Amino acid sequence: MKKVLILSVMVIFSLFAVSSAFAKPAKCPQPRKTKAAPGGIAKKDKTAKADAKNGKLIYTKKAKPMACKMCHGDKGDGGGKLGAALKPAPRNFTCAETMKKVSAGQMFHIIKNGSKGTGMVAHGKTLKDKEIWDVVKYVRSTFMK
Ligand code: HEC
Repeated sequence: MKKVLILSVMVIFSLFAVSSAFAKPAKCPQPRKTKAAPGGIAKKDKTAKADAKNGKLIYTKKAKPMACKMCHGDKGDGGGKLGAALKPAPRNFTCAETMKKVSAGQMFHIIKNGSKGTGMVAHGKTLKDKEIWDVVKYVRSTFMK
């Protein structure tokens, strides 16, 4: 486990070095590699009681191994510093055409479990369910108006 962790940290740092100069918004409409969440999960929505302010803290600072904004960007447009180096590119939350298919429950599931074959890692071990709903609320209320 440790080896994998060290290796991924190294990969991430090298991506950072290559790409930091070229961050720009991701395409719209955007192709989507992420699979649909199973069964009823996509229909769950606990954002009504979630705390968008706490979600912002997680998005911009607290998330591990790195803040969401490093990939998805300050503006949520996929233009984070690491974004340009990733294939597929990080989700552009501001792209209504693509995001209309992505429910709150779908987002919850992917943030918790990650998206296989993409740079989107699982956060289920570092964020509580409540915190994941907080960040879903922040993203939806800030970038997906
Ligand atoms: C290392 C870069 C990286 C980081 C850090 C990252 N993401 Fe992602 N994210 C991605 C990529 C790449 C995808 C997949 C794009 C695709 O499906 O084509 C993705 C996909 C997603 C999706 C898409 C779900 C869907 O069904 O389309 C959501 C929601 C998301 N990320 C939220 C977050 C949140 C919230 C955080 C912080 C807790 C975060 N991401 C951190 C790179 C990242």
